[in-house]
Amino acid sequence: MIQFVTTNEGKFKEVFDRLLGRGIRIEHLDRSYPEIQADSLEKIVRFGATVLDDEVRGDYLIDDSGLFVDALNGFPGPYSAYAYKRIGSKGILRLLEGARVRAATFETVFLLRKGGEHHAFRGECRGTIADAERGKGGFGYDPIFIPEGEARTFAEMSLKEKNLYSHRSRAVDALLEFLTRGRPEA
Ligand code: IMP
Repeated sequence: MIQFVTTNEGKFKEVFDRLLGRGIRIEHLDRSYPEIQADSLEKIVRFGATVLDDEVRGDYLIDDSGLFVDALNGFPGPYSAYAYKRIGSKGILRLLEGARVRAATFETVFLLRKGGEHHAFRGECRGTIADAERGKGGFGYDPIFIPEGEARTFAEMSLKEKNLYSHRSRAVDALLEFLTRGRPEA
């Protein structure tokens, strides 16, 4: 069984729900691991894996995600967790005050260790930054992110609705493609 190593219950629920829908059950391993500051999400998960490889038995999955805001040249991107702790969603809204372009991309990179080997999967979701925080669902920057094709923020959606669009759900698609390759459709 794959263990999803994360202290973020929201991430776990989203991925658990998607995978269960395809007949794959994962476990939650609620522990942290070192997350370096680096210029790409992939470098962050690859470093985390070097530590977890010695500390976790069996197959595991980790997720690093970031919000890349066009008008801020991709900031906070790989620094999203730090920016969230320091300035939060309100801080991002302040940085965008008066900005005409509010486009942004949410991105997730997964690292899966399976049978001792590492595999990376990516997913992204294009959207815009709302004018103000809206909604009570989800976590992190969800109250300020509106995915393309929607008028609501992620925080105004149910978990299943967020999973129709989200970067993490797209990364699950890539993961599923790998896990089910050669197996009949569930
Ligand atoms: P990390 O992947 O845990 O490093 O997340 C970076 C930052 O982005 C954290 O502050 C998270 O709360 C936030 N974040 C990660 N994924 C999402 C998401 O799906 N929606 C909103 N915020 C997210």
